[in-house]
Amino acid sequence: MRVLGIETSCDETGVAVYDGGAGLLAHRLHSQVATHAGYGGVVPELASRDHVRRLMPLVQETLAAAGLAPGELDGIAYTRGPGLAGALLVGAAVARSLAWGLERPAIGVHHMEGHLLAPMLEPDPPSFPFVALLVSGGHSQLVLVADVGRYRLLGESVDDAAGEAFDKTAKLLGLPYPGGPELERLARKGTPGRLRFPRPMTDRPGLDLSFSGLKTAVLNTVREAGDDPRTRADIARAFQDAVVETLAIKCRRALEATGVPRLVVAGGVGANTALRERLAEVAARHGASVHYPRLAFCTDNGAMIAYAGHCRLAAGERQGPDFDVTPRWPL
Ligand code: KG4
Ligand code: ZN
Repeated sequence: MRVLGIETSCDETGVAVYDGGAGLLAHRLHSQVATHAGYGGVVPELASRDHVRRLMPLVQETLAAAGLAPGELDGIAYTRGPGLAGALLVGAAVARSLAWGLERPAIGVHHMEGHLLAPMLEPDPPSFPFVALLVSGGHSQLVLVADVGRYRLLGESVDDAAGEAFDKTAKLLGLPYPGGPELERLARKGTPGRLRFPRPMTDRPGLDLSFSGLKTAVLNTVREAGDDPRTRADIARAFQDAVVETLAIKCRRALEATGVPRLVVAGGVGANTALRERLAEVAARHGASVHYPRLAFCTDNGAMIAYAGHCRLAAGERQGPDFDVTPRWPL
């Protein structure tokens, strides 16, 4: 079965084709970073308009790269939520129209399911069950994944998501949007241990997370530091260390609590090298394997949606021709 996947939940237009036999046939991405950079964050209306402009050409480009005619597709998957309502509607409308025109089934996929299944596209995919750390701009969750569609929430952020904390802290440090990768770059120049921020919610049992207090601690330190470049790099380093160590402690607890020896790290923050290195150590100490999507599939992309949609369509799941989007949608 060959499934076209469409991702438009935020500021990336992603399209891919996944084939049940041959794997990923092609994927294309248009990032809107340049569109939103001047505003310091994603402007929802501009995001929707850009998806409208980009999506159909990107679908054609992806099909050409896969060497497929539209009629050779067996189904269409799209991100149904969570995300920006207008942006989601563009993907949903295009996907549904294509499915209608081609007389193929369409399926709305949960964006976070896409993220947590993304490591299945790699050469050494994890087997079920696994523990997944989902860390993106909108979510920070630990999930026990028993199978496709069988998810148990182990813990989640009670306030800001990890990516959101990276973005807000980057902004406080005067770094351009998107903040996460910029902050990581600055943190590399910082001296480890010169500053220290708290590891929130690690002093009590449990797997929930919290990052808003950390942001406040950074704010106070930034105010004191003024614009001394060395101190700003040290702040970035101390912030990243605090987030990484907090996530490492919670992942260790999740591996211990579940007894499952496989850890998956997904979502945009999973692109962070310091986090990857630290979690590799944690997993190794537990005799657990750790699985990441390739860097390009940590952040939003069409491939993860094509894959998740393929799993569901191949299992016989079907939806009626009417559609809606679900901007807020628990996993
Ligand atoms: O998964 P994603 O592309 O979009 C959402 O579904 O939210 O994640 C985007 C988030 C942003 O907050 C971004 O700053 C963060 O992932 N991010 C990073 C890095 N690359 C992206 N955070 C820390 N270090 C990075 N290298
Ligand atoms: Zn995402």
